[in-house]
Amino acid sequence: MIITSIISFALLSSSWVTSATSVASVVSVAGLKLRGQVGTNNPTRAMSSLAEYTATPTSTPTSTQPTTSKDQITFRSLLDASIGRSRKVRGGNYVQLATVTPNGEPRVRTVVQRGMFPYDDHSSVFKFITDIRSEKVGQIKHSPKGEIVWWFLKTSEQYRISGNLTLVGNEEKDQGLQTMRKQTWGNLRDGAREQFFWPQPGIPLNEPDTCTESTTQDTKKSDVPNLPEGGRDENGKVVPPPDEFLLMLMWPSKVDYLRLTDNYRLVFERKSKDEWTATEVNP
Ligand SMILES: Cc1cc2nc3c(=O)[nH]c(=O)nc-3n(C[C@H](O)[C@H](O)[C@H](O)COP(=O)(O)O)c2cc1C
Repeated sequence: MIITSIISFALLSSSWVTSATSVASVVSVAGLKLRGQVGTNNPTRAMSSLAEYTATPTSTPTSTQPTTSKDQITFRSLLDASIGRSRKVRGGNYVQLATVTPNGEPRVRTVVQRGMFPYDDHSSVFKFITDIRSEKVGQIKHSPKGEIVWWFLKTSEQYRISGNLTLVGNEEKDQGLQTMRKQTWGNLRDGAREQFFWPQPGIPLNEPDTCTESTTQDTKKSDVPNLPEGGRDENGKVVPPPDEFLLMLMWPSKVDYLRLTDNYRLVFERKSKDEWTATEVNP
């Protein structure tokens, strides 16, 4: 039993992880300004940006130190540089996501950060995926507040990014977001797609699947009837995303940046639409 549990965990983890390696992030955004010089950013509405999502930056940043004048610094300019320098670091796109339970308790877990894209008046919406059956979903529905922490070991930088979380499922009416969800599904590695057809995560093995109201005791992957291997049909075509597959988005309102190499800390706050302030604070 214990061995089976360990193997299941390893399979789950490796699926999340292998899917991560295909992720390319980032599109550039226009500069925002520092406190006292609050700027406006009106990114073009989403659809044109959907195709851009998987594009790599046009140039690879070579330094995390701000090289432009101070009023050009944005959290994206810093973050893009950090991502660029850690592109080859395995696990460089794993972040920890904190949510809150209905009774106010914190919950934190590792998730794969799958890039950013501009949408409506947000220049950088952070993209993740998750399973509708996971506990975080109920937490987010109860309170959308969340925070991710992203540590870049190579450059000794930390980003704490907080804001609202939203979930995009099969019922989503917004065509831009639904398209993004389907694209994300199609771009996943087979192993990552397949796990959305596995039994309910988090329940003990050999217990009924309450989510699907299954009456069987078959709760191991090997017992799932008609499991579409790799999330593909018999002709090898990717099947449509199941209800279990959710796009999880973070709409940031605050970014707390800390660089240990020179003890530099900058706090970015979203004021309205995409107007941000940036304040240098004591580390
Ligand atoms: C390296 C790694 C990457 C992971 N990536 C994801 C992910 O992208 N999405 C996700 O929902 N869970 C991911 N997980 C699993 C979560 O950490 C967590 O165990 C799961 O989502 C259930 O969390 P919950 O019960 O708080 O909802 C990952 C785990 C590891 C170790």
